[in-house]
Amino acid sequence: MKSVLGAAVAALVITTAPAIANCDDGETVIKFSHVVAETGHPKGEFATELASRINDEMNGKACMQVFPSSQLYDDDKVMEALLLGDVQLAAPSLSKFGAYTRVLGVFDLPFVFQNVAAMERFLATDEGKSLLTSMEDVGYVGLGYIYNGMKQFSADKPLIQPTDAEGLKFRIQTSDIAAAMIEALGANAQKLAFNEVYGALQQGVVDGQENTYTNIYQQKFFEVQDGITETNHQMLSYFMVTTQDFLDSLDDDTRTQFLTLVDEVSVKMNGLANSLNDQAKENIIAAGGTIRTLDTDQRQAWVDAMKPVWGEFEEEIGKNIIDAAVASNNPAS
Ligand code: LMR
Repeated sequence: MKSVLGAAVAALVITTAPAIANCDDGETVIKFSHVVAETGHPKGEFATELASRINDEMNGKACMQVFPSSQLYDDDKVMEALLLGDVQLAAPSLSKFGAYTRVLGVFDLPFVFQNVAAMERFLATDEGKSLLTSMEDVGYVGLGYIYNGMKQFSADKPLIQPTDAEGLKFRIQTSDIAAAMIEALGANAQKLAFNEVYGALQQGVVDGQENTYTNIYQQKFFEVQDGITETNHQMLSYFMVTTQDFLDSLDDDTRTQFLTLVDEVSVKMNGLANSLNDQAKENIIAAGGTIRTLDTDQRQAWVDAMKPVWGEFEEEIGKNIIDAAVASNNPAS
């Protein structure tokens, strides 16, 4: 890497422009396109740290360029761009792979993981590890996971009981399981790209959405919603994907060093995900947003309303995978 466009130079162009590494001839360029903010967000912080380590420790061999905030591709387009070799790394949410594999749907089942630790235990099981290769036949390779946090609902009216959601329209990610979950509430689901959500909420195209505190804060969704209800109904995480073609194009040393850095940085940054979401929650409150918590009976009503969708997807995900995920909620598993 020759140099990095400094913040001051970037600021002259556009204040939100990222510092994009300027790669040398002969270096393997690794373009990483994602849809979230660069700072204060688990995926954005991961991307920045990974680029910094690669550009420092693999200087002369490889060079990473990060394109945040959907400036290059949204999450559907980035999957095509990977296969075309236009980017080499992406990390869409696990909800967005339904067109390529159904097994990753386990992460989309409402209330399957109680917290980040449960998901981590699941990923260490044979069933969890098997998911990394679930898209091999279409040329994608999973390199691991980046955690965000638990998802919450927000809407343009208070949501306390699941019946409060009846008749509302919620933005969802491109997931049939999410659609079934919203329909189970007697509500309507609309699949929209992440960068379209704020406008859709603001203009009343949709009435509500579901996301983590970091996304709700960074995208300012709370500003155009009545409030957020802390349902903790699902863990939002990302699948780091590349292609077999890209990995095969690297010499052994470069590939090993790249994969080692991806592992090391994901372990480090996943340890920060909870605190980034706690901070975002505090920021929302400080900025005047409303967060409603549920008592045990109220939360159970949401579980009772949404959990029955599991049955619809058990066969395509695989009962063994779902059972392993559920068992991981027990710390002794
Ligand atoms: C969403 O579309 O809501 C999320 O997948 C965005 C993200 O990457 O966190």
